[in-house]
Amino acid sequence: MSRHYDVAAVRRQFPVTERLLYLDSAHQTPLATSVREALLGFYREGSELGGPKPVWLERIEQVRARVAKLLNATPAEIAFTKNTSEGMNIAANALPLTAGDNVLLIEGDHPNNAYAFLNLRRKGVEVRFVPLTGETARAEMFAPHIDARTRAISLSHVTFHAGHRFDIDGIGALCAQKGLYFVIDAMQSIGVVPLDVAKCGASLIGAGCHKGLLVPQGLGILYCRQELDELQPAYLAMSSLAHPPGDYIARADNMTLKRGAGRFEIGNLNLPDIHALDASLTLIESVGQSAIEAHLLDLGDRLIERMDDLGVRLVGPRDRADRSPHIYVLDLPADSWADYLTSRNVRVSPERDGIRISFGLFNTAEDVDRFAQVIAERGTLPVRAGAAA
Ligand SMILES: Cc1ncc(COP(=O)(O)O)c(C=O)c1O
Repeated sequence: MSRHYDVAAVRRQFPVTERLLYLDSAHQTPLATSVREALLGFYREGSELGGPKPVWLERIEQVRARVAKLLNATPAEIAFTKNTSEGMNIAANALPLTAGDNVLLIEGDHPNNAYAFLNLRRKGVEVRFVPLTGETARAEMFAPHIDARTRAISLSHVTFHAGHRFDIDGIGALCAQKGLYFVIDAMQSIGVVPLDVAKCGASLIGAGCHKGLLVPQGLGILYCRQELDELQPAYLAMSSLAHPPGDYIARADNMTLKRGAGRFEIGNLNLPDIHALDASLTLIESVGQSAIEAHLLDLGDRLIERMDDLGVRLVGPRDRADRSPHIYVLDLPADSWADYLTSRNVRVSPERDGIRISFGLFNTAEDVDRFAQVIAERGTLPVRAGAAA
């Protein structure tokens, strides 16, 4: 049941729900039937027709336009990559940074964001980790760490480890005011939390598609703001060029880059996953991103209430404004709870501070109640060593 959409109809698209209490969409998505059919359709074309590549290439552009619409971007601002890490590395290496410049990251944020920038230390770029104070990251948190050599802020939109929703609009405004590049890792938010590039003022955004965008691993997207012509790709291929040679002979005299994200796209792409993404976007659009977000926030409210009743503490923020709709880490020691939950057919993830529950658009209030019942059935709740009872 949902106040926001026909969740029962959506759930029928996810056969996994008949076998498992699946609460692990922040780890990877279970496949929807329509997405699986799109993959099979692609493989069928490849095997029976030998691959209509021109048709596939046309479809890439259609899917690119759909991704652009999702982010309120233009198609030229979207490139396909293979995952978030690739997007973050493209971003880190494209920024015009020199020795002595510094970049601000958040302490404890996803390592795939951090390493892309830590790798720039070989060029003399300093990485400053800003401690996460308060319930979520806001502009005020960064302000004291900015000096004349600060060039960029890079962070997750939603954290994987506790479900914070960082204030990207406020931080984006600070970046605009100070003339900083703003890089966002949207892996955990894309498809779940509406993201408007015009509103947040991002310079670059990287994300994989295997969580909220509902396709198997191996496809990522990169947003790059159109007017940032100074950003340079570390790798170059024909597909990066504004005027690729029609005769397929490389020449050094016309290497003008595409504008926007296209300069960072190289070679053949993950065609099966792009077909899958076409189908998953149809599913997401049919429900609506805002409806998905609202439904998952309702599930979160219910989970918090049930866990409060059981005396189980939520690790991350409780406030709707500060939390992601779908990621909730419970202060239950993973080493003693993970196996129990697996034995009860409940799929969750062990996380650094407990057990991570994460919802997908197919989860229901009954799933939350069932989860609470499974927790309660274990009897005594083993609390973390040193934690208050
Ligand atoms: C915030 C965040 N960034 C990045 C990743 C993963 O990076 P990649 O898509 O490169 O595997 C994850 C989790 O898988 C994540 O939660």
